Amino acid sequence: MKSIPQASAALVTGASSGFGAAIARSLAKESRPVIGLARRSARLEQLREEIGVDLFHPVAVDVRDADAVAAALDGLPERFADIGILVNNAGLSKGFGPVQHAASADWQEMVETNINGVLNCTRAVLPRMLAAGYGHIVNLGSIAASYPYLGGNVYGATKAFVRQLSLNLRTDLDGTGLRVTCVEPGMAETEFALVRYDGDQDRARALYENLTPLSAEDVANAVVWCLAQPVHVNVNLIELMPTQQLFGLGFSGAAVPEKVRK
Ligand SMILES: NC(=O)c1ccc[n+]([C@@H]2O[C@H](COP(=O)([O-])OP(=O)(O)OC[C@H]3O[C@@H](n4cnc5c(N)ncnc54)[C@H](OP(=O)(O)O)[C@@H]3O)[C@@H](O)[C@H]2O)c1
Repeated sequence: MKSIPQASAALVTGASSGFGAAIARSLAKESRPVIGLARRSARLEQLREEIGVDLFHPVAVDVRDADAVAAALDGLPERFADIGILVNNAGLSKGFGPVQHAASADWQEMVETNINGVLNCTRAVLPRMLAAGYGHIVNLGSIAASYPYLGGNVYGATKAFVRQLSLNLRTDLDGTGLRVTCVEPGMAETEFALVRYDGDQDRARALYENLTPLSAEDVANAVVWCLAQPVHVNVNLIELMPTQQLFGLGFSGAAVPEKVRK
């Protein structure tokens, strides 16, 4: 089993915001070159200015477009071409209604991003890792894969896919030295709720009114810890949530706020 060389890059999808940006910052702080992938190029440019050109390379691509992902990785500068770490983090949730009121376009966007996007990036990176004989794939799942909540229908199902894919990948990769981890956070304050509620700030904020949510840095710490384990240790699954969160969307000592339920 080979360790991942320090000069080997980490491809972090969804690096323009939230967990992805925090993971990119943490890895770069350890002098790991990071390829930050997302659609919003201006955000990625900001991160490049902050982290520096030596350690951050932006790739403005939509994970739903398999050809674009593959082409972007084929055109990487030499310093970033050896990808030892893939963090499949890009993802979203759209809509909060019960299944009978859900919009099919929302379902489609979640399936294409959270499922196809993970598959596209994994397929693009795996041959490089297998040829190198080292690699670690960390997939961002969610506690929504395990605990149902009102309106979580297709989002939770896409994250159940991510968890099972992680376990299946790890099984298929037996003997290759590659590792696979699924990190499953609970409620974390990022742009996630804003995207879910189509930019409605009040509704997004109301979600976190009754508890101290996880921060993007809390989740980045978990990812970095998984990556830091010695090569003979594979962390399969990590679930973390706010102390005040009771599994699905339950809060300790309080009902789900009315503004969130609507
Ligand atoms: N926040 C939570 O409570 C929570 C809990 C559990 C799991 N998660 C999961 O954690 C991951 C990160 O979420 P977050 O909380 O950090 O949310 P966020 O702040 O909204 O960040 C999501 C990231 O995904 C990127 N993205 C979305 N669609 C994309 C696409 N088609 N192609 C490329 N990039 C795309 C976004 O970039 P662009 O818009 O620039 O493309 C953004 O960088 C997601 O998979 C989410 O499901 C979140």
